[in-house]
Amino acid sequence: MKWPSHGSNPHYLYEAAGLKQPERILDFSANINPLGPPDSLKNHWSEFFQGISQYPDPHAASLKARIAEREGVEEEQILIGNGGAELISLLGRMLTGKQVVIVEPAFSEYEQACRVNNCQIEYFALDDSGELNFPRLLERLSHTDAVFLCNPNNPTGVYFSRNIVIELLQECKKQNCLLIVDEAFYDFVVEYETLVPLLKESEQLLILRSLTKMFAIPGLRLGFAMSSKERIESLAAYQSHWSVNGVALAAGTLCLEEDDYIKRTQGLIALERERLFSFYKKNRFAYSPSRVNFYLLQDMELGDQYPLFAYLLQKGIVPRHTFNFPGLEAKWLRFAVRGRVENDTLMGALAEWRSNHRSSL
Ligand SMILES: Cc1ncc(COP(=O)(O)O)c(C=O)c1O
Repeated sequence: MKWPSHGSNPHYLYEAAGLKQPERILDFSANINPLGPPDSLKNHWSEFFQGISQYPDPHAASLKARIAEREGVEEEQILIGNGGAELISLLGRMLTGKQVVIVEPAFSEYEQACRVNNCQIEYFALDDSGELNFPRLLERLSHTDAVFLCNPNNPTGVYFSRNIVIELLQECKKQNCLLIVDEAFYDFVVEYETLVPLLKESEQLLILRSLTKMFAIPGLRLGFAMSSKERIESLAAYQSHWSVNGVALAAGTLCLEEDDYIKRTQGLIALERERLFSFYKKNRFAYSPSRVNFYLLQDMELGDQYPLFAYLLQKGIVPRHTFNFPGLEAKWLRFAVRGRVENDTLMGALAEWRSNHRSSL
């Protein structure tokens, strides 16, 4: 059975599971803002259409200028990408043949990008509670060219504080090792502490961001990287011309004005996550201590979660499998935090599951 390597597009999942897809499904497998794209995008849609008969700006100048102003970096320190995914694959090319450490479990594209570029990959496992065993990681950094750290972590939703990253960065500086911090979900963390000022002190830091999750535009594809000018210049050399389309560039500029929408999203997610977690606590489901819009879930009375996974799929509720997350392999399922109605449907299905699979304890 070949499981799809990402969430979304659930028909592939039903196909792999050999199950018939119900007519109505609720997809919890992709971690997209349940509010949908901001209204400003809908309001400007016809302007975007006017732009599609022209080539996009290959330098993405106005979006870059907006990001530079917002983040307090220079434009030359930014590379806009066709989603964070493109930037990860460019990083893989830049690191061809090098020694990399991937802190696992993590987004599977790091491994994929490194593997196709013949990197020597070492895995460093988070501990069972999703935390970083820091001294052990530092020991692994000698002879390492780059470390991938997903923060907040996908799939656990655990957020590592700035102090942890600073300590890691200090060791990376000593070892001349590039620290790649993927912050695709940073804007869901209410207490997020920015790492951007550290770019001034360290050539060894590269921060990845995505606009597709918070602004619910995965179909448009948009992300960016920030690092030293030299590092950004070498990364950009691998990118194809016009790789980011004009609609994404225009939409991105509008998204960066949406601070109220971000706050509204954070409020909704915090409330819903709390409701879900208190239900799980009462019903003997374990969950990861997530600070973002997704979390891991486990029926504590099952080892392999496949029976629960198949039960939910048959009900039209689509979790994200964890077969391709090293260390998790089917012992957990991942769910996005969606809106109130959808989360109620999920809890209803899990309550029914629990009443049919009562604890023998
Ligand atoms: C941790 C992480 N980084 C990067 C990406 C890529 O996002 P995108 O290419 O949509 O910007 C994803 C997508 O799921 C992700 O989970």
